[in-house]
Amino acid sequence: MDSAQRVPRHIAIVMDGNGRWAKKRFMPRFVGHKFGVDALVGVVKACADRGVEYVTVFAFSSENWKRPAEEVSGLMSLAISTVSKHLTKMVGEGVRIRIVGDRSHVAPAVRAALERAEESTRHNTRINLSVAFNYGGRWDVVQACQKAIADGVAPEALDEATLSRYMAMSFAPDPDLFIRTGGEKRVSNFLLWQAAYSEFVFSDCLWPDFGEAELDAALADYARRDRRFGLVSSADAAALAKA
Ligand code: FPP
Repeated sequence: MDSAQRVPRHIAIVMDGNGRWAKKRFMPRFVGHKFGVDALVGVVKACADRGVEYVTVFAFSSENWKRPAEEVSGLMSLAISTVSKHLTKMVGEGVRIRIVGDRSHVAPAVRAALERAEESTRHNTRINLSVAFNYGGRWDVVQACQKAIADGVAPEALDEATLSRYMAMSFAPDPDLFIRTGGEKRVSNFLLWQAAYSEFVFSDCLWPDFGEAELDAALADYARRDRRFGLVSSADAAALAKA
């Protein structure tokens, strides 16, 4: 397979390390999140340039409400200011933005800003940026089951393909590559269903420092992986085919 074929269609990212990045510089955690937005804008552009079709980022998890109130309100304000600051550029660069997560508990002003980003970019086709906001992988499975039941899907008709249609990311292929920055090696309730066969790359880089070089290193790592989806390796498959 040539290298062009090994570019992942869909990359999921846990943007971890903003707080530590700020702490190292004796600045409040919020400053780390602000620089994290700049890193995100750069990575989305770099992904588009490399032919990646979908990028999905964990911006605010269902569990993040438990952080100090000041940090939560800082992240909410950041969502609003990010839309004001970057939306025009995103529209111009062909980025289609979608928000995934439970909107019902998001404050109206934040929700309005996020929905403005969705609305203004809905005709864009160059790259799809999904922002997981008040999202949790378990929430996603539960809400999909609830919707399927409400639709009258019979228990025996509820198979994987049917449930997938009710999941928050039903518009996208499953992530091929799952990147987590910040040195921790866990999934943290992100895209539990969708990442079943993702390749994982864990980077020690703190998210605000994650740029093109780090992205290319992750892409090179991904390109070397032998994806099996529960089957035998491609080398074994070739040997079996010859036998
Ligand atoms: C994890 O770092 C990061 C987050 C909880 C938030 C990530 C959010 C952004 C980069 C900006 C989001 C964009 C919008 C539109 C709001 P951490 O705080 O857990 O870092 P630490 O592990 O070093 O403490």
